[in-house]
Amino acid sequence: MRKSIGVGLLGLGTVGTGVANIIQTPEGRNPLVGGIKLVRVAVRDLKRPRGASISPDLLTNDPNKVVDDPSVDVVVEVMGGIEPALSLILRAIAKGKSVVTANKAVIARHGEEIAAAAKTSGVYVLIEAAVGGGIPIIEPLKQSLGSNRIQKVSGIINGTTNYILSRIAKEGAAYKDVLKEAQELGYAESDPEADVEGLDAADKIAILSGLAFGGPINRESIPTQGITSLNNRDVDYANKLGYGVKLLAVAERLDKENSIDPYLPLAVWVQPTLVPKEHPLAGVNGVNNAILVEGDPIGEVMFFGPGAGSGPTASAVVADILNIAGIRTIGSKNNCLDPLLEASSWRKCKLVEPQKIIQKHYLRLKTEDSPGVIGQIGSVFGEYGVSIQSIVQFDATEAGAEIVVITHEVEQGKIITSLKSIKTLEEVKGLSSHMVCL
Ligand code: NAP
Ligand code: HSE
Repeated sequence: MRKSIGVGLLGLGTVGTGVANIIQTPEGRNPLVGGIKLVRVAVRDLKRPRGASISPDLLTNDPNKVVDDPSVDVVVEVMGGIEPALSLILRAIAKGKSVVTANKAVIARHGEEIAAAAKTSGVYVLIEAAVGGGIPIIEPLKQSLGSNRIQKVSGIINGTTNYILSRIAKEGAAYKDVLKEAQELGYAESDPEADVEGLDAADKIAILSGLAFGGPINRESIPTQGITSLNNRDVDYANKLGYGVKLLAVAERLDKENSIDPYLPLAVWVQPTLVPKEHPLAGVNGVNNAILVEGDPIGEVMFFGPGAGSGPTASAVVADILNIAGIRTIGSKNNCLDPLLEASSWRKCKLVEPQKIIQKHYLRLKTEDSPGVIGQIGSVFGEYGVSIQSIVQFDATEAGAEIVVITHEVEQGKIITSLKSIKTLEEVKGLSSHMVCL
């Protein structure tokens, strides 16, 4: 007879409630779901009404009791934040328990330490829900795409900001109102600054990059810009120019043939980006996420689906529990871990300096509406080797005009130097917006 697997939940909020709901309704799902038993649940506030029918006997406000409970085989960490989540994950590992977590903040910063501890203890730490909500992307990168040389991973990997940007583009909605809605729908982090400042997307691209390229990167060095300084006007201008605005996270390898550098150089960034309307990522709207992976020999493959929310994220969490349940069912030989599920790093990677990253840029300048301004701006860009794809004047009034420039691909360093010079032009009143373009 198949032995049931005891699950201890750390957290019963948006994701934890979704997990409990799946475990408690196994009918019609994979038979392994029926073998998962929820045995202990930690919350912060024992009095808060809960969206899942959990016997009060299972609840505790001491998460150590969940980790230490001998009937808990797998610890599911869905409480969020760095501490106490990190200590609880390490404690579970030290006790020989596998861990499933949706916590990208902790994995992006402490993934190496956690993976090393898991290896020593011979247990798994699975993280499918940490990136892309319900979209399977972690296991495909570890397993299904394992034979590829990955060249680039680009994605819309934050549901909250995609929801906000889509509503702004569709109906000109007010940023604050839509953010509030995203919070009510359970998409946003407990501190939504992580979403809107691009930090959550940076955590996720750090994780994807480590899996795609085989070596961890320094999370804190990822150039990150969120959507807080974005103006609805930029979304409108972008639309007129044939683009949608998306918060993109990108990781791309920049190694040259025959290079002897032991570190694989990567360009990794998170920025609001103008995406041509015909690009596959442009049609990804609402809370949906998508990750476009380019590899050799597969070419391009895109993963699409709900990037946040209770049910979709719980779907990914429970899939990881099932992976562990499956391994327990066949029994692990000689205490060895499956190297594909474990996914340890096999290479060293490094980030290139942001100034060296080559991108197309979108710049909105506030200027006087006087003859020759466009020419002067063009001349400065030319002087610094920046080639212009298009330059358009919008909204000219007596008070001034707005000039939108889209450049061809150029090193970021050249844009920074030319902008310094452009800002000194008498007719230029300031740089109102700066994004990148695909
Ligand atoms: P949430 O709704 O805020 O739930 C957090 C849960 O953890 C709550 O039940 C809370 O207890 C409990 N908790 C927090 N600190 C605790 C502590 N010190 N001791 C005991 N319990 C504690 O968060 P969530 O949206 O479910 O997110 C959980 C994790 O999943 C985060 O890492 C997040 O980044 C990740 N994630 C979320 C989504 C999403 O769509 N929401 C998607 C993917 C990944 P109380 O209920 O008593 O406050
Ligand atoms: N706050 C995150 C988002 C949750 O909006 O994408 C999913 O990781």
